[in-house]
Amino acid sequence: MVKVVSVVGARPQFVKLAPVHKSLTANGFEHQIVHTGQHYDAKLSDVFFKEFGIPEPDINLGIGSHSHAVQTARIMIGLEESLINLDPDWVLAYGDTNSTLACAIACSKLPLRLAHIEAGLRSNNKEMPEEHNRILTDHCSDLLLAPTHAAMEFLRSENLGSKSHLVGDVMIDILDLVKSSIEKQGDNLPLSINPSEEYILATIHRQENTDHQDRLQEIISSLQNLGIPTFIPSHPRLVKKCEEFGINLAKGNLIPVEPLSYRELITTALSSAHIVTDSGGLQKEAFHLGTPCTTVRTETEWPETLSGGWNELAEPSKIGESILRQAPNTNRGAPFGNGDAAGNISQLLKEI
Ligand code: UD1
Repeated sequence: MVKVVSVVGARPQFVKLAPVHKSLTANGFEHQIVHTGQHYDAKLSDVFFKEFGIPEPDINLGIGSHSHAVQTARIMIGLEESLINLDPDWVLAYGDTNSTLACAIACSKLPLRLAHIEAGLRSNNKEMPEEHNRILTDHCSDLLLAPTHAAMEFLRSENLGSKSHLVGDVMIDILDLVKSSIEKQGDNLPLSINPSEEYILATIHRQENTDHQDRLQEIISSLQNLGIPTFIPSHPRLVKKCEEFGINLAKGNLIPVEPLSYRELITTALSSAHIVTDSGGLQKEAFHLGTPCTTVRTETEWPETLSGGWNELAEPSKIGESILRQAPNTNRGAPFGNGDAAGNISQLLKEI
């Protein structure tokens, strides 16, 4: 039996893991999970394992929060021993977090064969820690699993085309499943949101936005003045930085709430008038669900979402203007695949 180990550590990776775990086990692979412990709060970690029915990780390294170098180094040290013991045929790394990079370096040194899910994304913004994580991981990997044509183009331009495959986006696999289940079961909106009232869903967590006091203050002030209730499920990094800078989230129309489960987030996103975010995943989810989105960043790794004005990049002071733009109505197509990315990955691993 072919043995595959998935290395995950942060919230979006648990979402990506769900369809991959299901597909690998259905296709006869032995699949084991190593959790690095980068995210450890129940609302950022356990909740996703429970809601997707993913088994408890075989190993949890329990690394926790540290500076970038310390976190990455500790994960590498823990992973080396775990991967030697598990002795897989393939290791899967997901996305662009410090856990992803640590996994890539550990595998390249052992060496173990590494496949990178969500390969080829580029923002060309070297200020982002994630941009370095992506590039370095792609160059350490043996198999590159790209979600989009644009990602394939970046990989070809970096001479990585021969090990790259367009498989689609595993986040669409899980989104389609959860969306149809929500529609079938008629889930109520969480957070006591009044379904007859218009509201906005906002999330802000990126280092570039949270770690500079003036920028964070400007973003939060804009969100507090959008004129309709704006719910902000708050990532611990946002809460910590607001406390540090003396920024009160709960002012004006802004309503801070605890982080949501995936199903709650998608239910809220489906009915919201607009989404304001700096999350890569939520930009894409907004596009796929047909909810207009404003992204508080200067660039995006998901340029497909900008087509027809479904997503717009905005500086903090322009958020209010951006949400008032004309409602997009173009056909969005399926730039992230047809919800069969995890199946394509299993098929590729079988063939290889
Ligand atoms: C990480 C990823 C980012 C991803 C995000 C998803 C990196 C470099 N960044 O950012 O790409 O979009 O996850 O959420 O890997 N904290 C807690 N509890 C937790 C985890 C974190 O309180 O369970 C707090 C700590 O104060 C920590 C801070 O959040 O210092 C940041 O956590 P960290 O994992 O370093 O980065 P994220 O901002 O979550």
